Amino acid sequence: MSIHHNVLLLGLLTIACVGCSQSPTAFAADTPATVAHLVPLPQSMQPQQGELHLSGAVKLDVDAAAPNARRALEEALSGLGVATDDSAKTQISLQLVDDASLGEEGYRLVVGDDIRLSASSDVGLLYAVQSLRQLLPAQLQPEYRLPRVEINDVPAYGWRGLSLDVARSFLSVDYLEKTIDRMAFFKLNRLHLHLTDDQGWRIEIKAYPKLTEIGGASAVEGGRSGFYTQDELKHLVAYAQARGITIVPEVDLPGHTQAALASYNELACDDVTNLAPYSGLEVGFSVLCLEKPDVVYPFVRTVLEEVLAIFPSQEIHVGGDEIKHPLYADFVSRAAAMVDEMGRTAIFWEEASVGDTKPNVLFQFWNDGYDIAAAVEEGHPLVLSPCSYFYIDHGNYAGQPQTYDWCRKEGVPLARLYSFDPSPFKTAVGIEAALWTELVHTDAAADNRLWPRLAAAAEVAWSPGGKRSYEGFVQRMGALRPHLDAMGVQYHPEPDLGWDEAGRED
Ligand code: ACM
Repeated sequence: MSIHHNVLLLGLLTIACVGCSQSPTAFAADTPATVAHLVPLPQSMQPQQGELHLSGAVKLDVDAAAPNARRALEEALSGLGVATDDSAKTQISLQLVDDASLGEEGYRLVVGDDIRLSASSDVGLLYAVQSLRQLLPAQLQPEYRLPRVEINDVPAYGWRGLSLDVARSFLSVDYLEKTIDRMAFFKLNRLHLHLTDDQGWRIEIKAYPKLTEIGGASAVEGGRSGFYTQDELKHLVAYAQARGITIVPEVDLPGHTQAALASYNELACDDVTNLAPYSGLEVGFSVLCLEKPDVVYPFVRTVLEEVLAIFPSQEIHVGGDEIKHPLYADFVSRAAAMVDEMGRTAIFWEEASVGDTKPNVLFQFWNDGYDIAAAVEEGHPLVLSPCSYFYIDHGNYAGQPQTYDWCRKEGVPLARLYSFDPSPFKTAVGIEAALWTELVHTDAAADNRLWPRLAAAAEVAWSPGGKRSYEGFVQRMGALRPHLDAMGVQYHPEPDLGWDEAGRED
């Protein structure tokens, strides 16, 4: 056993005892190879004596109202070469139960003589399946040994997200599908797509075709251009929904709009100097001409109508960042009211808290020092993305090439992200890590910035603050490396996880 494995085992023993009265030593002496290592850490996990051996085939008993959990389970089993057969000795059951303590997303997973998964919704069962996947190895084996365990789990926060900037540099549908699969494995449930910015407009709007003809053809220098058709986005919405993930679309208004202005010059006040596509790195220079409400607001309404017809998300992101304009607060109030009239709820970046909006409007907190207290006082829900913890375009380590450091010069290492405590934010609905792509131009670079940090974000959002610890996370996450390998993730070889020994490039 290598030193790394010794350390790993010690850590696993520690976490195996979360919420249990059994001595970890006794548990370990039995079957160290089958200790549970789950990320995010469940609310309670009771290891039982012994293990369950699985091979060949299992019998499935699945509630008909849980189609997504069934598909996830069948995919996982077939990936491990386990057939389903009604005469098999071991049964896996997925049952919907009426148990208010589980809420919408909670679940129970019991591995005894059989494997029993229960929840009050398909999505809860889907999470139970993800936990079962983490109890199983990533690779095909002749026989599988599972630790006997009882897990009772509910998330601390309902919003566990990733914001992906597909505007500066485009990410393909294929890459987004992969990312959704990986997010689902860690029980993340919101994929916020930053669909428009100065450097590109990525969403087809049928009433304004030049937005993608012109605005879709540009990108940040060195980045990728492109756009999604409405059919592609509808496909992605369904793909994500089947995996428990809501796609939250963002059309960033009224600033960060050079791609729109270059496509439709009449949206600008100055139709002489600012109308070229833009591929630079500056921010805060473009704005819809708010002095022309008869031009701008019909545009905003039509765009929002088309966006809402694609995305069923209750929350619709209207941007609102990095713009100083005398009519800015008025824009925020009008845009929020428009979204509200359409039966949805607006979410904006924090600056929009200066607007007059209903208290259900959400704000996304991104500058650590921003004074958001008044909005909290008014009851506005917050999505927490303070840049010094969750801007993962910042380095995995200080000085990492092709990363920003404007928010934190030491970058945002795994331990830093993990150390975030959301509890002082009384109206927080959850957290969201953000990957901006000014400097991220390939899928490999995106993977490197996302993983393993996104798994840490998932744990910060899901797991009880008082129970989780970085030491425990490191051990559990370290053990999940083969799963990331099996999913083809080109993760950062994080030294804290012992993942750097292979001498991989970052
Ligand atoms: C932002 O980083 N401008 C939200």
